[in-house]
Amino acid sequence: MTSRFPLTRTLRPVPEGDRSQILADPGFGRHFSDHMAIAVWSNDRGWHDHRIAPLEPFSLHPATAALHYAQEIFEGLKAYRHADGSVWLFRPEANARRFARSARRLALPVLPEEDFVESIAELVRADEAWVPAVGGEDSLYLRPFMFGSEAFIGVRPALEITYSVIASPAGPYFASGVTGVTLWVTSTYTRAAAGGTGEAKCGGNYASGLAAQLEAQEHGCDQVLYLDRTGGEGSLEESGTMNLCLVTADGRLITPPLGTILEGVTRDSILTLASTFGLTPVEEQTTLPDLRARAASGEITEVFAAGTAAVITPIVGLKGPGYAFVIGDGKPGKQTLAVREHLLDIQHGRSADEHGWMRRI
Ligand code: COI
Repeated sequence: MTSRFPLTRTLRPVPEGDRSQILADPGFGRHFSDHMAIAVWSNDRGWHDHRIAPLEPFSLHPATAALHYAQEIFEGLKAYRHADGSVWLFRPEANARRFARSARRLALPVLPEEDFVESIAELVRADEAWVPAVGGEDSLYLRPFMFGSEAFIGVRPALEITYSVIASPAGPYFASGVTGVTLWVTSTYTRAAAGGTGEAKCGGNYASGLAAQLEAQEHGCDQVLYLDRTGGEGSLEESGTMNLCLVTADGRLITPPLGTILEGVTRDSILTLASTFGLTPVEEQTTLPDLRARAASGEITEVFAAGTAAVITPIVGLKGPGYAFVIGDGKPGKQTLAVREHLLDIQHGRSADEHGWMRRI
């Protein structure tokens, strides 16, 4: 069967020696594979020109809509190499569905789920050599994105849209590894409000978070914690770019309910895996004073953040204007590390895929 995304191979791939050097220490988001997936949508033709092409810069008119009004969305997922050399994706359909929801919120055309998955599968096939070898946590991070590429500066949904996927070999997201991070509870910024774009994976949400991230760094913290301030005392919402989870001494795994936060694929996977660890998944709001009191009493024993890029990051303390407190004994929690290990084992093929999440390329 011919592919919906035919491949034109690059005549100038990154030399093998250079690629091996990159794969030995990929970092995060710094290096890119040889090819990219592309498809274009126009209001008169719909989706067309699907292809896998050599990676190259876009040529953009200065009036390109996305540069002015941020009509842009993206996704993040990974390809993993298993011990027998095979390459696998983790729940790509879940990313496809979220991409479609984000598209609707940003008035972008919906890319059919099968085209989303096929574009990624074909790109990974073309750039299989870029999937890191077995061992450790390394993977090939895939970044699908879509933006208003029409040159027009009137404010309305763009009539020409570009969809693309690029691939970047990835090691640990945080250079400090899984030693645990301290969050800065910002009282200056919020991430989202009801009816806003908090649930969509759009670039604008991340742009508006950069000042909060700088504020966190100014206070010696690794990441920011946003509160939902509409309720008065401020319920926990999201940690920087990741979902938040709390573990209680009586065996509950609590995470904020959906509504204004990102519907994380890792968040959803953790809620499903919770029972494996004797934890009961609970979606419920927790205020900051509540977290502080229950961490001090020992009722909340662990806190962690969850996302595709950094997987699961233990949170060992929180700081805000005029206060600081630790979670548990100030070290990564046992349950946190166990859930992290189990999820990574499924993704890297070291544990049975009981939920049917893995898709072979
Ligand atoms: C993720 O955890 O996958 C994220 O969304 C972070 C990414 C923006 C680098």
